Amino acid sequence: MPELNRVAERLRSARRVTALTGAGVSAASGIPTFRGADGLWKHVRAETLATPEAFDHDPKLVWEWYDWRRGMIQHARPNAAHDVLARWTRERPQFTLVTQNVDGLHESAGAERLIRLHGSIWHVRCSRACAAGRRDWLDTAVPQPRLPPLCPHCGAIVRPGVVWFGESLNPKDIAAASAATACDVFLTIGTSAIVYPAAGLVHQAKRHGALTIEINLDDTEASDVVDIAIKGKAEEILPALS
Ligand code: OAD
Repeated sequence: MPELNRVAERLRSARRVTALTGAGVSAASGIPTFRGADGLWKHVRAETLATPEAFDHDPKLVWEWYDWRRGMIQHARPNAAHDVLARWTRERPQFTLVTQNVDGLHESAGAERLIRLHGSIWHVRCSRACAAGRRDWLDTAVPQPRLPPLCPHCGAIVRPGVVWFGESLNPKDIAAASAATACDVFLTIGTSAIVYPAAGLVHQAKRHGALTIEINLDDTEASDVVDIAIKGKAEEILPALS
């Protein structure tokens, strides 16, 4: 593909490069995407379960969904897409990796300075934000011995350390991601580009004059926005570009 050569060339000469990833980057690791057919659990959509209201109404049901997802993710290994992106974070000082993924595979691949917009499925925190347990802590037990789990400090229900629909992102994370849109090349990879504010980053990058590139199996909301849309698998395209 001549397009791939052109993009590879631009990536080589670019100083500041930023990549935003979504669930498609982890598909080859066996983790279903949210909006693909395999992503559904008990016929319930993510938007119905990943909300504070759903958790208030039925924390056990929401935790069953997270337990199911944690079970799928726990043995997953990073794929070639994670490997290339992690290497760029180590080799290119001005490369910023921003992810919507909560699975921890960018970290397993050795990514540095990762900006995790939606938190981590391996972290939990007290739903009452009790004084002793106000911060997230790591809890990798799968399955959880009790659903919903309880805060060891105050006994309130523990919640997943992820950002739900209707919740604000950590202001530091979104500010850092936003600042990274002032770049020479911006890549949007394996995301349907419909969940904001993450989906707004490619627009910001374009306004900053970046060359914007999408890598995705399908057309998305970003396809008409970007300068170059590359149709293909992230785990094949990224190694070809590196
Ligand atoms: P989606 O499930 O919405 O989109 C996954 C995208 O990956 C789709 O556009 C697919 O075409 C594409 N795709 C699948 N396999 C691929 C592959 N091998 N290579 C390249 N592309 C591939 O997932 P996200 O866009 O990440 O938020 O979803 C965004 C957010 O919505 C998630 O972080 C989560 C979700 O609900 C919260 O939970 C707050």
